[in-house]
Amino acid sequence: MSTSDDVLNLPSLDNDYLENEESTDDLEKALVIAAADADARSNEVQYAIRNDDSEDEEKEINNSAKVPESGSGLKRRLSVENEDPKHFKTNEGEVIPQPSEGYGKIIATHYNSLEEKGLDERSKSRIFYMRNFHNWIKSMLINEYLTKIRDNKKHNAPIRVMDMGCGKGGDLLKWRKGGISHLICADIASVSLDQCKSRYSDMQNRSGRDRNPGNIYSIEYIEADCTKVRLREKYKDPSMKLDLVSCQFVFHYSFESLTQAECMIHNAAECLQPGGFFIGTIPDANDLLTRVRKSRLNSFGNEVFQVTFESDINKPPLFGAKYNFHLDGVVDCPEFLVHFPTLIKLAKKYGLRLVRKEKFYEFYKRMNSEGRHLMGNMKGLEAYPPYPGSHLVGTAVDDYVHAEEFLRNEGIERDRNARIGTLSKSEWEASSLYITFAFEKVKNTWAADGTPIYDI
Ligand SMILES: C[S@@+](CC[C@H](N)C(=O)[O-])C[C@H]1O[C@@H](n2cnc3c(N)ncnc32)[C@H](O)[C@@H]1O
Repeated sequence: MSTSDDVLNLPSLDNDYLENEESTDDLEKALVIAAADADARSNEVQYAIRNDDSEDEEKEINNSAKVPESGSGLKRRLSVENEDPKHFKTNEGEVIPQPSEGYGKIIATHYNSLEEKGLDERSKSRIFYMRNFHNWIKSMLINEYLTKIRDNKKHNAPIRVMDMGCGKGGDLLKWRKGGISHLICADIASVSLDQCKSRYSDMQNRSGRDRNPGNIYSIEYIEADCTKVRLREKYKDPSMKLDLVSCQFVFHYSFESLTQAECMIHNAAECLQPGGFFIGTIPDANDLLTRVRKSRLNSFGNEVFQVTFESDINKPPLFGAKYNFHLDGVVDCPEFLVHFPTLIKLAKKYGLRLVRKEKFYEFYKRMNSEGRHLMGNMKGLEAYPPYPGSHLVGTAVDDYVHAEEFLRNEGIERDRNARIGTLSKSEWEASSLYITFAFEKVKNTWAADGTPIYDI
């Protein structure tokens, strides 16, 4: 396991992937934090009653993209490195041909072919707790920004949301709990969207049987490649103003090319009202590069996940820096590094100002006390040591050394009733790759030629 010292000792690179960024792959720290903060929750882990959220998890333009501002480092780099390359050269000099129409079809086919797994099978999954933990992160992130939105609105004013890359509708129940009025669900994968539709109907039917059904939000679906299609033209009401755009575990697919990234950001920003937010979760490009460079191969991972780069890891391009991500039967798909400084520049062009960017464990630390109860209900952490008759999901020899160490440091390793909530090291190594981000749409003035001017 690496330490922050290893990261600081990395040679400086002549691309700016690490520019203005602190590399934070100090997993050790994250694991101990998780163990420490989860202490008080240990009983909840055992006695958690499934609430709606865990059930959720269990059932669970004409693109007008332009090269950004002249004179920016981005433009210079783009002209040299990002001509939508049809071939990539790996570090070993191997040339890998790329599909000429891009990766959209491959990505859609992958998601369309994922089986719907039953509750029983999912609870046996090696990444059961990690998936629940990610679901908790999404719930807390969504709640955080819905609360800000609601605080700035009149009581009972409608809240409209777009879920870009909604998949099978894993967040439908979160939207219901968030009390939104309308949801636009967009995804490239038709089969996933069908599953999303049937989950929404199930939720509607269930709510009809509730004693206090409350109002359930209205919904519309758009099957589209959000990196290539102007979504607004597909809205039932193209004049609709949105309060929130959520893009969970999706945005990195857009960094295949500048045109696609820009189209996706345009889609996120175009209909957001000033004060609205664009939130999401993506893998941290710095962390991915730091780890793959340390591996001395083009690949790293463990029994849970594997990342294999097909682009030059020493000089990755700003767009199209492709790697394959394999995650325990869930994802096995090409993805692209998101160079965050570039994302900030592109977002600025569309009136989006960065509000916050956090590694998952930073987000966890900030939200842990507020989200403690929900974490217990969602089974976002695993009890260590396991309760009698239960088994740990991790089987690698060092999967729980951090938890043992924590118990030892606390002097409670011999207490048979002492338990902490944590994740196995293999799951943390995957989970800690991710970051959350939030951008806010700012007000604009107009230039003489009619283009918007944002003060960012
Ligand atoms: C990892 S899943 C996440 C699904 C959902 N957001 C969640 O958190 O449960 C990624 C989703 O992104 C969708 N996706 C990938 N590329 C896309 C694109 N270019 N346009 C629209 N959806 C895309 C996939 O079809 C898939 O449903």
